[in-house]
Amino acid sequence: MPGRLMDKVAVVIGAGSIGTEASNGSAVARLFAEEGAKVLCVDISSAAAETTVQQIEEAGGTASAFQADVKNTDEIKDAIEAALSRFKQIDILHYNVGIEAFGELIDVTDESWDHVFEINLRGAMAAARAVMPHMMARKTGSIINVSSIASLKWSPMQFLSYNVSKSAMNRMTKVVARQYAPYNVRCNVILPGLINTPHAAALYKTEEERLEGMKARDARCPMGHQGTPWDIAKAALFLASDDACYVTGLEMIVDGGLTL
Ligand SMILES: NC(=O)c1ccc[n+]([C@@H]2O[C@H](COP(=O)([O-])OP(=O)(O)OC[C@H]3O[C@@H](n4cnc5c(N)ncnc54)[C@H](O)[C@@H]3O)[C@@H](O)[C@H]2O)c1
Repeated sequence: MPGRLMDKVAVVIGAGSIGTEASNGSAVARLFAEEGAKVLCVDISSAAAETTVQQIEEAGGTASAFQADVKNTDEIKDAIEAALSRFKQIDILHYNVGIEAFGELIDVTDESWDHVFEINLRGAMAAARAVMPHMMARKTGSIINVSSIASLKWSPMQFLSYNVSKSAMNRMTKVVARQYAPYNVRCNVILPGLINTPHAAALYKTEEERLEGMKARDARCPMGHQGTPWDIAKAALFLASDDACYVTGLEMIVDGGLTL
């Protein structure tokens, strides 16, 4: 059976993992490739991007690595140009990069606020801006942003700038979706709940804290366990594929019922 992304090209920004296990970003890149897409794996860490490329190639897929820091909008433009030069077209842009900085209102500094917004929000805007003329010209495209349910509801972790940047990302997704619908360019956003990733594990300082923290995260989830990066990848696959050809501006919550 042909894959659901056969003949498509995807750019996944934040396609590596900060650990040895799959991340949300690497799972997306790998599943897209498994379904037939050629994937440009963009990451600030060339080693992390190369690891995902290697995993894709070992599974029989096609991918290429590109090093870029989303804090630098020129590097984002270069990544889009590299995808066009290596693979001739871009059908899917998946923006996965997201960072958090500890701090509630009275703790947050201007510097950490700006840093989080540059990476979580301006990077997503700059990537969509860079790819849009190409998608408009071809009258096809799927842009997927990765937000969080922390954009919707209070969370016990004090990450004010993270939560607010992700709320703005949800709104940006809808504005872009409406603006470019006449060009058949779709834009959707995934809101993960608690997902068991190396990034989530890295929020804890010691191994003991990590074990306790992960147990507590499982216990908060109505299904009794956190989601996996593959749950996020499967949602992204739907939004990337032609199965979602009439779906745009959607906030797709993937949280096992945590927001209910
Ligand atoms: N794990 C969860 O519980 C959870 C919940 C809600 C939302 N999310 C969202 O999922 C996304 C991240 O998930 P992940 O598991 O892939 O995380 P991750 O930290 O493993 O990140 C993926 C890749 O992004 C790269 N990256 C980091 N900063 C970058 C930069 N400035 N430029 C380019 N690349 C950069 C890292 O090197 C890494 O390889 C974020 O958007 C996060 O907000 C996660």
